Amino acid sequence: MGSPDGRSTPPGGEPAPRRPRWLLVVLALFVVMSAVGMLATGWFILRGFVFKPPAAAAGPVAAGFALVQASDCMRCHLAERKAVGPGWQAIAERHAANPEAVALLARKIREGSVGDWGRVIMPRHPQIGEADARLMAQWVLAQRPASR
Ligand code: HEC
Repeated sequence: MGSPDGRSTPPGGEPAPRRPRWLLVVLALFVVMSAVGMLATGWFILRGFVFKPPAAAAGPVAAGFALVQASDCMRCHLAERKAVGPGWQAIAERHAANPEAVALLARKIREGSVGDWGRVIMPRHPQIGEADARLMAQWVLAQRPASR
């Protein structure tokens, strides 16, 4: 019993002086709130990176647009006006009533075309696969102006 410096607490001696309780409560609250805040921030960051929905969820039209942008299509086709080739909107309107339009346009994208819109040739795109050509055709057919 007793410490080397002789200042041992006598049994049944004075209780330790009361600390201000409210300070402890405030400190504890602060710690808890900071932890919750950091967890929430971490969750939001994680949700952005890890749980991002896959691009394919945006649908075939968006996938088709990406393919059209990556290819040479925009060199000859504009949205509204005729350039070298017919405008996207005009193509979409012309084939709106055709249930076979996706297959037809996919074939034209891959094999080329001439004579349907004029005398200028749409070049072949043999490097574009059937599935990609169909996605591109789906995007083209979605370009109908909303007002009509
Ligand atoms: C060198 C210019 C040129 C490029 C590059 C080009 N096109 Fe064309 N496109 C044309 C022309 C010209 C026509 C019209 C052909 C015709 O009169 O039959 C056409 C027609 C089309 C048609 C068919 C329209 C119809 O009603 O039959 C589609 C669909 C089409 N293009 C999509 C594309 C896509 C997708 C790409 C990119 C992979 C592309 N084009 C690249 C010039 C081009």
